[in-house]
Amino acid sequence: MSFDRSVKIAPSILSADFAELGAECAAIEAAGADWVHVDVMDGHFVPNLTIGPQVCKALRPHVRKVMDVHLMIAPVDPYIAAFAEAGADILTAHAEAGPHLDRTLQAIRAAGCKAGVALNPATPVEAIRHVLDRLDLVLVMSVNPGFGGQAFIPAMVEKVRALRAMIGNRPINIQVDGGINPQTAPAVCAAGADVLVAGSAVFRGGTVANPAPYGENIRVLRAAAGAARAAA
Ligand code: DX5
Ligand code: ZN
Repeated sequence: MSFDRSVKIAPSILSADFAELGAECAAIEAAGADWVHVDVMDGHFVPNLTIGPQVCKALRPHVRKVMDVHLMIAPVDPYIAAFAEAGADILTAHAEAGPHLDRTLQAIRAAGCKAGVALNPATPVEAIRHVLDRLDLVLVMSVNPGFGGQAFIPAMVEKVRALRAMIGNRPINIQVDGGINPQTAPAVCAAGADVLVAGSAVFRGGTVANPAPYGENIRVLRAAAGAARAAA
């Protein structure tokens, strides 16, 4: 996958029908999704349990574009190889997940994946200043991780702006995750975000049997983001 700063929509399959995950991935891609965002939770770093490398591997044939794997787990390092072998294109670890973030990022790239780091709402951007050259993506959590359907935290707009300035001309995407919808997307895009994760806002109203709402939801989100970008 190549780098660019066009707005990308990454639906989170946390809001999909878990009995239909493969078909849901295919349906959101057909509906216009750019990346498929997979939320991995361990019941320890975050208070919820979701999916592991075996499910990612099973989903891989159903994802034709980018498999974007958000690891909300601690420790991270023992599982990097398994997620890389499962076919992840991007592996994003949390800055708060362990004491050796630089080592984790090196391990992700060594495993052949793009390397991302996620920042919880309370974590300052300064936490990653000295690892920028090991990064392909920064994920700004705009809710506290663990669940879909939470309300966007407005202070994260300023964080995206600060990050955009810190990144400068480096080829690093800024992803925002949590509470993103057509109302909240414009501010983060104007501040410099280029990848929008959205769970409930994409899956709302649709099913694999009736996927038309997915396409409409993605279209409306992309239009709101694009207009904000153009005006920024
Ligand atoms: C939260 C996850 C998000 C979440 C987004 O821990 O990382 O990806 O599923 O869901 P919405 O868009 O519903 O806030
Ligand atoms: Zn996520």
